[in-house]
Amino acid sequence: MTSHIKISPSILSADILNLGAEVQAVAAAGADWIHVDVMDGRYVPNITYGPHLVAALRRFTDLPLDVHLMISPAQPHIKAFAEAGANLITVHPDADTHIHRVLCEIKSYGIKAGIALNPGVPITAIETLVPFIDLILVMTVNPGFGGQAYIPEMTNKIRQVRHLINHSGREIELEVDGGINLETAPSAIAAGATALVAGAAIYGAADKDYQSKITALRGK
Ligand code: DX5
Ligand code: ZN
Repeated sequence: MTSHIKISPSILSADILNLGAEVQAVAAAGADWIHVDVMDGRYVPNITYGPHLVAALRRFTDLPLDVHLMISPAQPHIKAFAEAGANLITVHPDADTHIHRVLCEIKSYGIKAGIALNPGVPITAIETLVPFIDLILVMTVNPGFGGQAYIPEMTNKIRQVRHLINHSGREIELEVDGGINLETAPSAIAAGATALVAGAAIYGAADKDYQSKITALRGK
């Protein structure tokens, strides 16, 4: 398959006091989406930002905003993130009691819905949700922090999710998130990923040459 691999830089590792310039730089460097990691200090052991930042990003860039909610419950906040301008909202099945309702609510705002699988969550947790989603996000680290190491055993899970998507006959994006860098991206792509999140590998690079990192991550 030679389709375009989407790169979604995670602003978690960006210089937050220069966020505008940081977003502009990855946009100019060919990023496809902007990955916004929302954390509540409850579902994950870290706290980041909320709809207010998404709205500010929306005013600033035309790139699709890929909003990853690591909050529990997510449902009370879906409307705020959608109205702030998220193009895609991804939620975790273990973060809400009625996850199907959450996915339907996301879709009701005319935006894309994604479902994320932590390393400890089996694919069976989302099998019945396949007709309702536009993206599956496979976590290759335990969520909460940028700069963690890719868990190699998750490559096989990416492959299994690829089979699930292919058998569904639906157009579902397969995004991989956590520890993606020049060493690990090829395995994720070979296993069937169509979109890669990268925080430290892009924003953490000492030379700030985002274009070479983004191009190299795609493997071309
Ligand atoms: C982890 C977040 C990731 C993270 C990725 O909790 O969901 O999106 O920012 O960062 P890197 O690429 O540094 O692992
Ligand atoms: Zn993320």
